[in-house]
Amino acid sequence: MSRKFLIAGNWKMNKTASEAVDLIDEIKSSVGGQTAVQVCVCPSFTSLAKTSELVEQSEVLLGAQDMNASPSGAFTGEVSAEMLRDLYVSFVILGHSERRQYYGETNQIVNQKILAAIDNNLKPIYCIGETLEERENGRTLDVVRNQVREGLENFPSKSIENLVLAYEPIWAIGTGKTATDEMAQEVHCDIRKVLSEMFGDAASSSIRILYGGSMKPENAEGLLSQADVDGGLIGGASLTARSFVGIIEAAQKV
Ligand code: 13P
Repeated sequence: MSRKFLIAGNWKMNKTASEAVDLIDEIKSSVGGQTAVQVCVCPSFTSLAKTSELVEQSEVLLGAQDMNASPSGAFTGEVSAEMLRDLYVSFVILGHSERRQYYGETNQIVNQKILAAIDNNLKPIYCIGETLEERENGRTLDVVRNQVREGLENFPSKSIENLVLAYEPIWAIGTGKTATDEMAQEVHCDIRKVLSEMFGDAASSSIRILYGGSMKPENAEGLLSQADVDGGLIGGASLTARSFVGIIEAAQKV
């Protein structure tokens, strides 16, 4: 089963709207027309309206970094799936470890968001991954399996082509410490087994599983060469065109 690489930039809380426009212009001029690798940028909510117009004439897709599970209502500060769709957003990052850590998001809360995203034709990028302590205690696979099972409870099989997962070991995020190619492959392969138990072999082999955690042009090719690594969710290295495009070029080579 061939899975097209997805390279997604998670800009986190960086870039004003005008800085976002500049960065997307640069990304577009290098890789805006290629289709070998799917490319997505996820700026903050305040930049989505402006960047939505910009990416329209290119192959670059737009993603958001979070959303609320409810369709509308009294949820001060929140953004709904419909609001994102209205801006031609394609992907939405859900369950990022920073949201779990700082905003108390549990697998159950994230599960509601994933189901709401799917209902609204948004493609969730569901983030999972263990802490350093969990890895050191040999609990990585247990933790990740549980996140997959609980986060994807009641996920409709008919929408499986819209599902993306991202394995992001928390100890590798923003630290410069990357999982080795083998460590990433071991967990990705295990995730695919759980997906196979939940949705069947055919579905499981069609789902893209991205790696995230200090991915950069220098280590991208090794990670992306692993059988079950289908792209990257990039933080720091997505904030400059040179390094983000470098990772896309590494993906083109694999
Ligand atoms: P870094 O690439 O900065 O380690 O961040 C990874 C990440 O959290 C992407 O969602």
